[in-house]
Amino acid sequence: MSRLDKFIERMTSQRACLDFAAETISGTPGPVFELGLGNGRTFDHLRNIMPERDIFVFERAVASHPDSTPDDDMLLLGDVYDTLPAALARFGATAQLVHADLGGHSPAKNDEFARSISPLVEPLLAKGGLMVASDKMYFETLKEIALPADAVPGRCFIYQRA
Ligand SMILES: C[S@@+](CC[C@H](N)C(=O)[O-])C[C@H]1O[C@@H](n2cnc3c(N)ncnc32)[C@H](O)[C@@H]1O
Repeated sequence: MSRLDKFIERMTSQRACLDFAAETISGTPGPVFELGLGNGRTFDHLRNIMPERDIFVFERAVASHPDSTPDDDMLLLGDVYDTLPAALARFGATAQLVHADLGGHSPAKNDEFARSISPLVEPLLAKGGLMVASDKMYFETLKEIALPADAVPGRCFIYQRA
């Protein structure tokens, strides 16, 4: 499988999981947290499929496409090691969806990072809330759930607070 094949699988899976999540949480109150703005592609998708939601974006250095840049008041600027605990103090366990796409090119570093932020993400989710991640996460109380049909196993992961 080429790098292009893998990239397409990852993007297709990301979209399938985010569409599934939007449908699953439809009608429930609570914000969406986007961890890692990057180019802003997934942020743009989230606001397209959930125009009614407050979407807060966590990013340490904004470098997104101008058309996919959140308003200042929806941006939590800084390292997630600082901004996730601050979000818990501000919002409590209210998030209906947390989407994390924070990783880089090293699978080992991504895994280490996912392990270290899992306890910071876990308390943010409301009952029934979902976490969609590009990397396997390490939660104590959230359960991994089945991926939607269009997603490729291993390319994304979905967790839910029962
Ligand atoms: C792969 S990109 C996100 C791509 C995005 N999903 C998109 O569709 O364009 C990862 C982003 O996470 C951010 N990031 C990585 N580690 C971070 C950290 N510790 N705190 C805050 N942001 C971080 C990077 O700056 C980068 O913009």
